[in-house]
Amino acid sequence: MEELESYQPLNLFEYKQLATKCLSQMALDYYASGAWDEVTLRDNRAAFERFKLRPRVLVDVSKRNVVTQVLGQPLQIPLLIAPMAFQCLANPQGEIATATAAASAGVGMVLSTLSTKSIEEVATVCHNTNSHAPQWFQLYIHKDRGLTRALVERAYSAGYKALCITVDAPVLGRRERDKRNQFALPSGMQLANLTNLSGLNIPHKEAESGLFIYFAQQLNPAVTWHDLEWLQSLCPLPLVVKGILRGDDAARAVECGVKAIIVSNHGGRQLDGAIASLDALAEVVNAVGDRAEVLLDGGIRRGTDILKALALGAKAVLVGRPVLWGLAVAGEAGVAHIIEILRDELDVAMALAGCASLEKIDSSLLFCHNQRFV
Ligand code: FNR
Ligand code: LAC
Repeated sequence: MEELESYQPLNLFEYKQLATKCLSQMALDYYASGAWDEVTLRDNRAAFERFKLRPRVLVDVSKRNVVTQVLGQPLQIPLLIAPMAFQCLANPQGEIATATAAASAGVGMVLSTLSTKSIEEVATVCHNTNSHAPQWFQLYIHKDRGLTRALVERAYSAGYKALCITVDAPVLGRRERDKRNQFALPSGMQLANLTNLSGLNIPHKEAESGLFIYFAQQLNPAVTWHDLEWLQSLCPLPLVVKGILRGDDAARAVECGVKAIIVSNHGGRQLDGAIASLDALAEVVNAVGDRAEVLLDGGIRRGTDILKALALGAKAVLVGRPVLWGLAVAGEAGVAHIIEILRDELDVAMALAGCASLEKIDSSLLFCHNQRFV
């Protein structure tokens, strides 16, 4: 395990600063980018700042409990690592390092279809660490149905505990920095789940992002709600849908048998101008009721952000880019430290807000637009 440098970052923002010194320009831009003017990317953070907290006092918070479950699967804190492609751009161990840190800390990890370590390699981490924290597989539905089916079957056989279908990317959002950089993978780096078996790779193209071209060529933009039934027929894993921002879509997903919904705008990387994920959360929670679990990602950088998302009804949150910063700065140890910082901040925030357990977190804690939220 790599050691952190003598300068110990105190928070996730300091990791971001350090990571900029560790990454190539192409990787840095790919990781950081939002779509077009990056309005949604910024608003994901601004939304957390718009919500203020109404702490309760004189509550016994001497013992705090942050252990929870999602889909009946145990989490030591209400946190999962969001699916993110190409983690070997940050560190040679890539997704293996991330998975090891997540499993050791008892937090969930969602592996991207476009990972640079394979479904099977990453699954062995969970067995090796003897962790009960779940690994989920994130699926991009390719035009080639046989290939898509094979990915699902591999994830099921390898022991992943849910199938997470990303629904906000019928085409790839326009990240202009990637186009400028002609984004492609460095030689020797491959789509670990796809290259060997199907010969698929990220193409090199003049004046274009290779990832944008990959999506246009390989992913199926004709997918509809009806395809969820097909996916459900492929294996018994619970379906999770990632990328919902509306109550009506959430209700439709539940009617299709989806067990958990991730409220997300893909970290501002898809439709620029889409609402902040935090602003979509209450509507989705209302529409879903207790028929499914609701998770959120986008802009989680502090323990107070987790507290606010939980107060709005999320069962847990996912964290994206900060994990890549941790990975870039110090590999597995960096990811472990990112998780530890979030755990510690959530613990302190709960104590200061008068919540000894997650069950005590409710919407009465929130204040927004100069009024109580409920
Ligand atoms: C992503 N995200 C993503 N989502 C997905 O479903 N499949 C994927 O392969 C990827 N790849 C990916 C790469 C990179 C570099 C980033 C930054 C993001 C989106 C991700 O799962 C998540 O929705 C956001 O990253 C959450 O926002 P924050 O925490 O990064 O602000
Ligand atoms: C991204 C894709 C791969 O956001 O989901 O880059």
